[in-house]
Parts: sequence; C-alpha cells; structure tokens
Amino acid sequence: MIVPRRVSFDWRRTPLHWIPDEPTATHVINVLHLLLPAGERWFVRVFKEALPLVTDPRLLKDVKGFMGQEATHSVQHSYVLDHLAAQELDTEAYTRQVDYLFERLLGERPPWGIPFPAGRWLLYRLAFVAAIEQFTAVLGDWILRAEALDRAGADATMLDLLRWHGAEEVEHRAVAFDLYQHCGGPEPLRYIRRVGTMAVTAPMLLWLWIRGATYLIGHDPQLAGRLRYTPLAHDRAVRKGLLPPWRGLAAAIPRYLRRSYHPSREGSLGMAVAYLASSPAARAAAGAVGRAALGKEG
Ligand SMILES: [Fe+2]
Ligand SMILES: [Fe+2]
Repeated sequence: MIVPRRVSFDWRRTPLHWIPDEPTATHVINVLHLLLPAGERWFVRVFKEALPLVTDPRLLKDVKGFMGQEATHSVQHSYVLDHLAAQELDTEAYTRQVDYLFERLLGERPPWGIPFPAGRWLLYRLAFVAAIEQFTAVLGDWILRAEALDRAGADATMLDLLRWHGAEEVEHRAVAFDLYQHCGGPEPLRYIRRVGTMAVTAPMLLWLWIRGATYLIGHDPQLAGRLRYTPLAHDRAVRKGLLPPWRGLAAAIPRYLRRSYHPSREGSLGMAVAYLASSPAARAAAGAVGRAALGKEG
C-alpha cells in the first residue's frame, strides 16, 4: 500500500554546506529543493486531472497514495528553501522560473495556444511525469546506497529527508508509468509519446540542474563568488561517491525506452522499505499516527 508519511524535519542545526567542505556536491543535490516544490505540486495537479480516467480501483488507490506522497515531498523540500533563505541564500529568482515552467508551460492548457485535440495534452503531461519518475527512482535508489555521504559527515537531518524521499520514490516508482499506460490510448501512439517525452525530459532536467547548481554556487554568501560550478568539480564529487555517476543516470534512458520496460524493475524495493522502517522522520510520523489512533480508541 502506497501511503504518505506525515514527516517533519528540524532544520535549525543544518549548516549551509551540509556536506562539510563540499560546496559543489552540496549545491548539486540542493537543486532538488529548487525543482521539487513546484515539480511535485504539478505532479499532483496533473494526476488530479487524470483521476476521472482511472477505471481500475487498485490503480486508483495507488494514484491517490502517490499524490499524497508527492504533496508531502513538495512541502518538505519547500521548507529547505526557507532554511536556505534564512542563511542568506535567496532562491526566489530561480524558483520563479521553475514555477513558470510547471504552472504555465506545462499547465492545464497547452502553452502558446498550441491546438492539441481535447484530452491529448493531459496524456503528454502524464507521459512527462512517468519520464521524470524514471529519474526520481534511479536517484532515490542511489541516495539509499550513497554511503560516501555518511563517511563525508553529511548532515543527518538532510540525509534523512533525502533518503525518506528517495525510498518513497522507489516505493511508488511504477505508479506514474502504470497511470500513463492505463490512460495513454492505443499503441503505437502511446509508445511514441513515451519516447518523445523522454527525449525532452532528459536534456531539460540536465539543463535545469546545471543552471540550478550554477545559481546556488553563485549566490552562496559563504562562497562569495570564490567558486564556480564546473564539470571538473562535479566529476571530482562523483568520484568521491558524493554525487550519482553520469553513466548510471544515462543508462536509465535506454532502459526506459525499451518496449518491454516496467519500472518495477528499477531500484530495490527491499532497501527502500528497510530505510523507511529505520528513518528517524518516518518512524516519528508512524509513532504520531499510532498515538493518534490510540487516543481515538481511548
Ligand atoms: Fe517525490
Ligand atoms: Fe515520485
């Protein structure tokens, strides 16, 4: 059963460079906080539009669980942005552009009045969500395994946020794809749309990431312009195991384009479930739900 966990995090003790002495790795991962509040809010809006098309009760349940999880992720990442702003790293100039992307370009109506036949625009957006979810599953699995972050002394609260989120991404990795397959209409058009949206999603994410990391490093008050985001610095962090390897990310694309692809083969569900059972935030949330239920019974 896919259900949201009502977690919360206390950011008061998390330093700006939450991977000590690794500003590049810190900010490349911080791009998640720039993209996800608007991006995951958008997932929820798109799925809400698609709810009337779902005729399978089991899928409907998963879709609603997915919406609850993504809404929670979006809110928790937005609190990190507040924490960055409190440390004089204002991200609004960048997130305004991300909002424009998700609210206007990928909003309820096609941008620039492009005449899509009724209902077709929703199918494209569902396919975009499925393509993005391929990367969130891969990244989620990576963060669960990224022991180099522990060895580097990364902040425990940030690691818990990222791993709780990553584990839920692995847990619900198949929902967006299943929803798209369910609503996407007949083949081969359904498959062609899947290829087309991945062809846009992968370079788009790369571009957003490079711009996001450049923005964060450029506006970091502690760095004060002394550091630039460069491929060399990025690769150095990859070699240390602090960032996901390019090869792993790139390999996710041809996998997704296989006709026989299904996301249930992405990542390790066992590892995700095990992390959720040990995550301080998820355990606290489960405890709160348990206490509330006992209170109601009493
Ligand atoms: Fe998420
Ligand atoms: Fe997700």
